[in-house]
Amino acid sequence: MKTIIIQFGGTGDLALKKLYPAYEQLINKGYDFTVLALGRRYTTKEEFLTSTLHEETNKGFLDKLDYLYYDMKDVTSPKKLSSKMKELINDEKEVELIYYLALQPSLYEEAISQIQETDASMDCLCTLTKKIVVEKPFGFDLESAKRYNAILQTAFTDKEIFRIDHYLGKEFMQNLLIMRFHNDIIRSIWDKDSIESIQIVFDETHGVDQRLGFYEQIGVVRDTIQNHILQIITYLTMNEPASLSPEDIAVEKVKVLRAITPIEEFHMGRYESLGVNSGHIVDTPTYAALRLYVNTYFFAGIPIFVRTGKMQKDAKSLIYVKFKNTTKQVMHDDSIAENGVIINIHPELTIDISMNLKEPNTSWKSKPVRFRFNQTETFGANTPEAYEQIVQKILQGDKSLFPSMREITESWRIVTPMLETNLPIEVYPVRTLPRFATKLAADNEFQWFV
Ligand code: BG6
Repeated sequence: MKTIIIQFGGTGDLALKKLYPAYEQLINKGYDFTVLALGRRYTTKEEFLTSTLHEETNKGFLDKLDYLYYDMKDVTSPKKLSSKMKELINDEKEVELIYYLALQPSLYEEAISQIQETDASMDCLCTLTKKIVVEKPFGFDLESAKRYNAILQTAFTDKEIFRIDHYLGKEFMQNLLIMRFHNDIIRSIWDKDSIESIQIVFDETHGVDQRLGFYEQIGVVRDTIQNHILQIITYLTMNEPASLSPEDIAVEKVKVLRAITPIEEFHMGRYESLGVNSGHIVDTPTYAALRLYVNTYFFAGIPIFVRTGKMQKDAKSLIYVKFKNTTKQVMHDDSIAENGVIINIHPELTIDISMNLKEPNTSWKSKPVRFRFNQTETFGANTPEAYEQIVQKILQGDKSLFPSMREITESWRIVTPMLETNLPIEVYPVRTLPRFATKLAADNEFQWFV
């Protein structure tokens, strides 16, 4: 069977930085597919290849990469696309088309209708199967997500639709489920009886850079909270699924999302130079901090604090699960530190469990000590990148690393108050934490772990 990935947004940031390296890796590993990049930035394939590829690009991948100048505003584009595809299909008998939309949400409707038009004018003598892959954010808000889905369903079955959240392809995410459900010692402490609070920190040093046009319509809530952050929360707090099948996992994740109470405490800010290079300052939030609760039997009452955004001093992503410290009262000793699980996601994947152990040459004095798992030291440096895992699953037709439409719908419901707020957006100098993040910690009597 011949597989062709038709890459909408084929000259965009995501394709260049994440997707092509993932395709290259998979082709190196023996997967066989052709990539047809669609874009407006270059007129010819030669221009595209010379401008986008680096010296070490593998020849095997280059042979599989093709390009078509594609302007979505031009009504003749779908016809050109279908004749290009006929050329690629040639006399193959069985063909799979994977339409990959790496576009701004506002272009989805048009893209889907052009795909339908292309399909209609493809009269190949082969058996055609198809899939469609849609990047996050899926929609712009609850209403548009439902509308896009309805449109998608006119042309594709749910089995053929892959909605992306690349965080589900990350090793640490998959490890969260294994850590929680394959260890009796963790299971028995992972609930409101033992956990005091959870922090999720996702600080990035880079700004919006070349993605300004996309980001100014999106903002931090749609960029990372509606998807990555809420997915992390589902993995941290879902009940044990009946099995690790995609359907069973989705059932449990939906329960978590439905149990998230309306977010009452949140703040947003933007770094002061956002848009300066383009000549106009843009007032789109690039940082947010919030507190939320998952109101299920096992997690009700545990505050989950989140901070996420751009232009910070250090690139740090981590999850800190802080356990209650009853020992301090029982032993009448304020110096006893709490226990915690620290999942470092970036810059390095490590999982630490902190415990108190005796400090030598003291009389019963304890000191917090960390037991560390380091992904690279234990398993080597060849853990596949998230997008490689995601694309591999798409090729295999396995939906285990993709959020279901119900999850996406619930996630939009959860962030709606943040999207509709008219709270002022705090302007923060680059490389500094917005004041509201520090205030959130002070008001809630905790300290950020970083
Ligand atoms: C993307 C966001 O989904 O995730 C980006 O659009 C963000 O703004 C990125 O920088 C972070 O992903 P990763 O894999 O670099 O942690």
